[in-house]
Amino acid sequence: MSSSERGLAGIETHMLAAPEIDRPGHDPSGKPVPTSELALRFSGVGHRYGSRVALDHLDIAVPRGETVALLGPNGAGKSTAIALLLGLRKPHAGKVEVLGTTPRRAVAQGRVGAMLQTGSGSGLPPGVRVEAVLRLVQRLYRHPAPFDATVERAGIGEFLGRQTQRLSGGQAQRVRFAIAIAGDPELVFLDEPTAAMDVSGRRAFWRMIRTYGEEGRTIVFATHHLEEADQNAGRVVVVNHGRVVADGPGATLKAAVVARRVRFVCKRPDRELLDSLEGVTDVRVNGTGVVIDSLDADATVQALVQRRVGFKDLEVTGAGLEDAFIALTGAEPNHLAEDR
Ligand SMILES: Nc1ncnc2c1ncn2[C@@H]1O[C@H](COP(=O)(O)OP(=O)(O)OP(=O)(O)O)[C@@H](O)[C@H]1O
Ligand SMILES: [Mg+2]
Repeated sequence: MSSSERGLAGIETHMLAAPEIDRPGHDPSGKPVPTSELALRFSGVGHRYGSRVALDHLDIAVPRGETVALLGPNGAGKSTAIALLLGLRKPHAGKVEVLGTTPRRAVAQGRVGAMLQTGSGSGLPPGVRVEAVLRLVQRLYRHPAPFDATVERAGIGEFLGRQTQRLSGGQAQRVRFAIAIAGDPELVFLDEPTAAMDVSGRRAFWRMIRTYGEEGRTIVFATHHLEEADQNAGRVVVVNHGRVVADGPGATLKAAVVARRVRFVCKRPDRELLDSLEGVTDVRVNGTGVVIDSLDADATVQALVQRRVGFKDLEVTGAGLEDAFIALTGAEPNHLAEDR
């Protein structure tokens, strides 16, 4: 194992309001972050596989202690970004910094842990017991985390004696997580860490990750599960076609697109009146059918009543992070629903 491998074992676009999202590469609070306090930074990073552009002028800065989701559809460039952060690949343009140094050096210093995306296999060596794998990885670090604490955190106590090829997909993933944290890293990269886990496994995993992050570590995870990003990261960096298309708290992303959609049927819709109602950002009239986009559906409905707009079949629907994501990336909903 080389030193660099250590520690690895439905919204339409027109509805996208001007996003009040921070510029990529900047701390969402707007404050400049001194380089020494950054866990990682991409500065104008480009990467190609032959003629295929995977990363295109990527700018991201993550201060230490943050939990950040890299959210993007298949092929967005998430895994490539992680490969660069681990020094497994070199950028063709720009610069990647990790913990104030080069990715390779940070990894060799044992300060970085990672759980890489695997194809069909578990990514674990076959014919070895789980305990042996974890103990071997621990020995690669000068200051590993205590064995028992790692086992408990990752929830792998029940199958320590099992051979790796006999693990279920979700169990293997937990073992790979244990390997990622075995060296007590400051910074952890998790590439779609819950892909093979069942619902309760996912919940337990994210509970544990939150605790892990609260201890001051920096966690960067890649996902195309929108809820996962929103619920488990303080900051969501949306990547598409190798570029950052939005960067901010999940709540800010949601606010960047219409918050609510109000539909009703009305005999003679007065577009001008409807347009003037509180919270309304867009009105579409089709015969007697009206669709209103509103930033404050409660106020809009109250105004409909006050202004005596004779409506029936009123329906208010929410626009979730999924809608925000689709609006930001132009990805199709069924594309996102994959592997749910
Ligand atoms: N080893 C490779 N050789 C050639 N092209 C590659 C290779 N790895 C990735 N790519 C291409 O680079 C682009 C970015 O891929 P990447 O794996 O980084 O995306 P991703 O966001 O991780 O996607 P997913 O959600 O499917 O894991 C895609 O167009 C992909 O086809
Ligand atoms: Mg990937």
